[in-house]
Amino acid sequence: MGARTAAGGPVLVVGSGFVGTETARRLAGEGRAVTLASRGRPASPPEAYGAGWTALDATDPAACARVVAEVRPRAVVLVHGPSDVTWCEAHPVEAARAHAAATASFAALPGLDRLVMISTDNVFDGVAPVCVEESPTAPANAYGAAKLRAEELLLARAVSPATVLRVSLVYGHEPADAGKWLNFFASCAHRLLRGEPVEAPDDQWTTPVPVADVAAVTALLLRPGAAVPELLHLGGPERVSRAGWAREIARALGVPEELVRPVPRASGRYASRPENTCLASTRLGAMPGMEAVALRGVAAAARELAGAFGRG
Ligand SMILES: NC(=O)c1ccc[n+]([C@@H]2O[C@H](COP(=O)([O-])OP(=O)(O)OC[C@H]3O[C@@H](n4cnc5c(N)ncnc54)[C@H](OP(=O)(O)O)[C@@H]3O)[C@@H](O)[C@H]2O)c1
Repeated sequence: MGARTAAGGPVLVVGSGFVGTETARRLAGEGRAVTLASRGRPASPPEAYGAGWTALDATDPAACARVVAEVRPRAVVLVHGPSDVTWCEAHPVEAARAHAAATASFAALPGLDRLVMISTDNVFDGVAPVCVEESPTAPANAYGAAKLRAEELLLARAVSPATVLRVSLVYGHEPADAGKWLNFFASCAHRLLRGEPVEAPDDQWTTPVPVADVAAVTALLLRPGAAVPELLHLGGPERVSRAGWAREIARALGVPEELVRPVPRASGRYASRPENTCLASTRLGAMPGMEAVALRGVAAAARELAGAFGRG
């Protein structure tokens, strides 16, 4: 359990995976008392960076009530799964049910300073090259449909101030033996460093954002008294194809770019992704504190991340 008390009060982060862990690390670094909650213990011990962990199946309303009574959060971040787009496509009913049930429990929670849900660009059909907050939603896959339903539920039912933060593809370092699907950067980097070819679509476009930047923006939303809109988009500053991005990763790692083999999106695991999963924002720039957050482009972030993969 996060034992510290700090300005802003305790934060409960529901989901202790890739994004949840980095968010907890950032908030703990800012001096907030943070508790992660998920069904299984996270791979990296939260105690190592000053946070805590508690067991929770967020689809169980009674379990959510127990954890809330234990942690007494002032803010909650919903960043739980199911998050694997391919798994959701094969299990659409389970995916929708899980996201709706978890959201409903926390939307009913009074007295929070803020409740933030991390959502996705998959709520759009991907026809437009880039979507802003005002763009009409039309999910193209089961994952996007489940997340959109949860967004609607949150904003319709939340009794505390609530914000949906839609983020584009999130990336950063993950170990090869994480025991789960890896983010695109990590998956490419490990394969390239083993000298294995990487097949990447040259017709699937994204505005990828480093996980540290997602955590920094989420922390801003949780600042007490911050004037925050109900809906915000967070994409990286560049729109890249997966194949182009993979070549950038190869360059940063110092391995031959020829290992990257461009393929059509329809032929592989990206078949259920829209052509464009790209976000821009008409609102984020006006958020107090954003002037101190420099969102990194793919080349700069690849060079920074190379060290974590043993290069650079
Ligand atoms: N990664 C991205 O690129 C990205 C982009 C946009 C939005 N998002 C959103 O961010 C969220 C997390 O993504 P991620 O990449 O961090 O996923 P992840 O690494 O797969 O982590 C998901 C976490 O949720 C937990 N979880 C799953 N079912 C749960 C349940 N019923 N109750 C409590 N915890 C549960 C998992 O732990 P257990 O299985 O042990 O419970 C795990 O800790 C997702 O909602 C996703 O839609 C991610």
